[in-house]
Amino acid sequence: METLIEKAGENDTAVYEKAGAIIKNGGLVAFPTETVYGLGGDAFNPDSSKKIYAAKGRPSDNPLIVHIAEMSALDKLSDNIPEILYDLADAFWPGPLTMIIKKKQAVPSETTGGLDTVAIRMPDHPVALQLIRAGGGYIAAPSANASGRPSPTLASHVEEDLNGRIDMIIDGGEVGIGIESTIVDLSGDVPMILRPGYVTRDMLERVIGTVETDPTLMKKTEGGRPKAPGMRYRHYAPKGDMQIFAGEMSSVAETINKRVRQSSRRCGILCSDESIRLYDDKGIIIRSLGSRTDLRSVALNIYRALREFDDEGIEEIYAESFDTEGFGQAVMNRMLKAAGYNIINTEETK
Ligand code: TXA
Ligand code: MG
Repeated sequence: METLIEKAGENDTAVYEKAGAIIKNGGLVAFPTETVYGLGGDAFNPDSSKKIYAAKGRPSDNPLIVHIAEMSALDKLSDNIPEILYDLADAFWPGPLTMIIKKKQAVPSETTGGLDTVAIRMPDHPVALQLIRAGGGYIAAPSANASGRPSPTLASHVEEDLNGRIDMIIDGGEVGIGIESTIVDLSGDVPMILRPGYVTRDMLERVIGTVETDPTLMKKTEGGRPKAPGMRYRHYAPKGDMQIFAGEMSSVAETINKRVRQSSRRCGILCSDESIRLYDDKGIIIRSLGSRTDLRSVALNIYRALREFDDEGIEEIYAESFDTEGFGQAVMNRMLKAAGYNIINTEETK
């Protein structure tokens, strides 16, 4: 299959007409959102959902998020919409928040991975909103990466992973946030965060009161199973072995420098603006993810840096750890997953 690649802004009507027709005919279109690029198909067409799983090489028990552009679209998805969904939508939609509620029978089980709930999000990106409208109002979309690769933050990442496997890629430039949406499950007694993101627990609690967090998110668990099926797989996996080092900046740098000196493999370091000068620059790749005082830049750079390390054939990745306050929880959740929860406290090992 030849993949059509088109650049588009909000007003490129011809692109949306073409893309909308592809979606309505059961085809797949990758598109930018404010979080990461998505791989979209018609959420009410079971064959489209099957194609999404096939294109990504993703297990089909891992449910997709249904993207909408208007509040009125909710009526076709659920007849059991809790009041708090409207409160949260008022506060955060369009935006990087996905909400899970009981689904209507008509929502195909292929789209929801066999579950009786559906995950819904109204993205805050003009290209995404135009595509959703042109495609009939309901776009099922996971992140547009091949399964096991970091989520795409640029159209070129989508091309690397999915060229020849999907009908079209809409290139809307770099995304704004760089890690996937916060997922909150509203189908149980107490709202529960299944995946941390830009919308933090504090932000949610200010609107709806007590919110729990899936206890399996920040540590490797033996018995506990993450509640979002997708969080169970080893996602975001770079090709190199990744280790995270926590502790004082100087002791982290000292430990990493020592390990890199002792290694005979190709090493890469992920650090911060504050620490980059502490590393021995001897033919290895050192990337700052941004300033520790600006976690937004760290979030935006993390997947891109991991892809670059893959492209450079990096075999060992040494990463600093970041603060888990607020948005930092989402950033560290993605880093920990990439590292297979391999984190070392340099103060304890000294
Ligand atoms: O920011 C985002 O959310 C991006 C953009 C494209 O919108 N999408 C995204 O989709 O990250 P994906 O498929 O890569 O991640 C969706 C996650 C998976 O972990 C999946 O298991 C979980 O949401 N999920 C979807 N529906 C669910 C449901 N009904 N119950 C529990 N978890 C669900
Ligand atoms: Mg994904």
